[in-house]
Amino acid sequence: MASFLHSWGFSFFLVAWVLSIISKSTFAIAMFRPSQWALAHATFYGDETASETMGGACGYGNLFVNGYGTDTAALSSTLFNDGYACGTCYQIKCVQSSACYGGSPFTTVTATNLCPPNWSEDSNNGGWCNPPRTHFDMSKPAFMKIAQWKAGIVPVMYRRVPCLRTGGLRFSFQGNGYWLLVYVMNVGGGGDIASMWVKGSQTGWISMSHNWGASYQAFATLGGQTLLSSSLLTQPRRLL
Ligand SMILES: *[C@@H]1O[C@H](CO)[C@@H](O)[C@H](O)[C@H]1NC(C)=O
Repeated sequence: MASFLHSWGFSFFLVAWVLSIISKSTFAIAMFRPSQWALAHATFYGDETASETMGGACGYGNLFVNGYGTDTAALSSTLFNDGYACGTCYQIKCVQSSACYGGSPFTTVTATNLCPPNWSEDSNNGGWCNPPRTHFDMSKPAFMKIAQWKAGIVPVMYRRVPCLRTGGLRFSFQGNGYWLLVYVMNVGGGGDIASMWVKGSQTGWISMSHNWGASYQAFATLGGQTLLSSSLLTQPRRLL
């Protein structure tokens, strides 16, 4: 996969072969095995339009444009894992509450945001996202698939599952001629990123560091160069 990206008056040519090949194939889906079901809780934020879920902490911006839609969730920091969980997918079903819909339907959400702690609220009374709680603050459309929204909060069972994505990877570039910041979006399979490298036409391979959310950065003079990028998906190493 290759695409021209124009920023700051010069262009980058990006080829992300490892990640694009793996994420577009059913191979990645087969490789990534769902985790065990575990107990957590879920609330929702925003309204039926899910407009409040746009621009979350992962940096995906407009979730409709970038392949995520409305079935998304903000994760408590325990699950968010400093942003390494951005892009991962979860099946969630409501349990142990009269607000649960019959037949325990599950919904599948993508992690696109952080639900920050609120230390002025008790962890068991409003501070639902305080560590060490595992909590999903879901979009309202996603929550409404598993429970009556008036319940506010329900216990859930969740498990991490492979992400199904169409249309290939998306990259969003920021930074300047000396600092390259890349947001990686629409990743299939595990959905997350283990490592990223970039190579300019006049440099060797440069290991990129995690910035925040789904963004990776290189402090290097790359302006005006043709860029090659290589990424590795994470192994299903830590199944929360
Ligand atoms: C944290 O909780 C307090 C008490 O309920 C509330 O007033 C405040 O708005 C909350 N802060 C955030 C950032 O949500």
